Amino acid sequence: MCGIVGYSGSRKASDVILDSLRRLEYRGYDSAGMVIVNGRLEMHKEKGELKALESILPDIEGITGIGHTRWATCGAPSRDNAHPFMSNDRSLALVHNGIIENYIPLRNSLISEGAAFYSETDTEVLVHLIRKYHQGDLHAAVRRALEDVRGTYAIAVVEEHSPDIVVARKENPLVLGSGVGENFVASDVTALLEYTSDVLYLMDGETAIVTPGAIRIFDAGGAAVEREVSKIDWSLEEARKGGFEHYMLKEIYEQPHSITETIISYIDDLENLEILPSRPITGMKILACGTSYNAGLVGKYIIEEMAGISVQVELASEFRYSTKTNQCPLVVLITQSGETADTLAACREAKLRGCHTLAITNVVGSSITREADTILLTRAGPEISVAATKTYTAQLVSLYMLASLLAYNNRSLGEEGLRAMKKDLRSLPNYVSAVLDRASSLRDAAKMFKEARSAFFIGRNRNFPTMLEGALKLKEISYIHAEGYAAGELKHGPLALLDEKTPLVASCLNDHTYDKMMSNVSEVAARGSPVLLLAEDDDADCETVADLVIRMPPVKPLFTPVTLAVALQLLAYHVAKERGMPIDKPRNLAKSVTVE
Ligand code: AGP
Repeated sequence: MCGIVGYSGSRKASDVILDSLRRLEYRGYDSAGMVIVNGRLEMHKEKGELKALESILPDIEGITGIGHTRWATCGAPSRDNAHPFMSNDRSLALVHNGIIENYIPLRNSLISEGAAFYSETDTEVLVHLIRKYHQGDLHAAVRRALEDVRGTYAIAVVEEHSPDIVVARKENPLVLGSGVGENFVASDVTALLEYTSDVLYLMDGETAIVTPGAIRIFDAGGAAVEREVSKIDWSLEEARKGGFEHYMLKEIYEQPHSITETIISYIDDLENLEILPSRPITGMKILACGTSYNAGLVGKYIIEEMAGISVQVELASEFRYSTKTNQCPLVVLITQSGETADTLAACREAKLRGCHTLAITNVVGSSITREADTILLTRAGPEISVAATKTYTAQLVSLYMLASLLAYNNRSLGEEGLRAMKKDLRSLPNYVSAVLDRASSLRDAAKMFKEARSAFFIGRNRNFPTMLEGALKLKEISYIHAEGYAAGELKHGPLALLDEKTPLVASCLNDHTYDKMMSNVSEVAARGSPVLLLAEDDDADCETVADLVIRMPPVKPLFTPVTLAVALQLLAYHVAKERGMPIDKPRNLAKSVTVE
């Protein structure tokens, strides 16, 4: 995830910035850079680790500057795409976290007005736009430029001959550190802790001017805002987790943001996305491992429902053994890391079989991005906990977008339908937030599993793979044996394993599967297993068959795999916590599995 730092004071800015960037390294990055105000703007940036930047950095005297670590999203990891970016007259420089949704039209119009671009990034438009509106007041120019922008951002901007740093934020974190005769900017308090524990949080839509002697904050209308200083007494490790006890919990809570970022980077121009082969897609395969495989199974239901295209989902590790005669126009590989050996091998095999390969991945520059024919990028940011959470829901929303594109192309979805789908996807993060708001009920429900040795998860239709994922999450971090089943399968064998010590988790949402789910749950309840039901707010009947009901916010049935997944992540987290497990680093597991 990209990191921003800024300094305005009396120390050597390059030292403070390098040191602060080091504290953001844990977030993951692929390039880094800084600009120091030193009579002129002196910019240095490099691909790779901070060591690479440090090795090319001369001795710079300036006492104001901004720095950045970049996690590539728009444009490959490279020196040219690294931040900061400078205006063509070298009078302004900027760093940015987030996504500028409308950067293509902005870029085209700035080029027609004479701006020269040197990177593939969405960010570069911002610096040219601010320069365009700059008539002697940097803060006014930033505010005016942001009126033209659609997207999310945290930015820090400096200009030559001035100690001021102008910052702004929308849906991306930014904090300001207050010192004596010096002030700081950072995307994350960890960058500041060495220098100050007094911070001011910038809110959405606000801007600020940071100078050595003052921090002035302004609301969206430009009026000055009084902000109280907050004292941070976190250790570095606590700060990295943003105050959460574990990375997994932090990542679960990041999902409204990671889903938004994934959606907005493609949604506007979804129908023109060039990721599919030109030949007709009569059938397709999805190949993946673990959690990504479960996302693929959800994808199958969604694509078949929306586009009427038959989808086979295979474990990437088994693909090589499947029939070679079955040529397929499209093979989708899902891998958050982009480095899973089985998925990479499946990608090579699919290419040998003459298929178009499309990778859905979270890591730009990963091996799969070099091997697959086309890429659909999830923008969840780096995931540190071994258990995949925010990358899973980002994969799901990528699959909704892929399903919409396939359906639009084969006319299963018309203009009106596509517009409605885009609107629904944009509002999806609100439903995820609604689940997170109910987290305490999942914390309480976790007690049901404290002593369990085994647990079962059941669902039907598109919610069946979600229950597989719920079971995988639980076994992975709580070490409880857990199985997911299509609810109709229980009576064909697994029912023999259910007893009063084996809890059952069932999704019983208000869709066409409701009645059948209720009968399956009743069969289990009759055998004495404790039943935890995930049911919607207005469902009174479910209380009769359940020991405990978790209330889910009502959402269109197509999107329940997302909201349910978040609830099941929270359940697994709290069960593991109840049992005192090492949640972020479960035994025997690695974040990225690079052996076949
Ligand atoms: C999920 O919590 C696991 N960490 C694991 O199943 C993971 O999804 C699997 O190894 C695939 O990883 P990938 O998405 O990076 O390919």
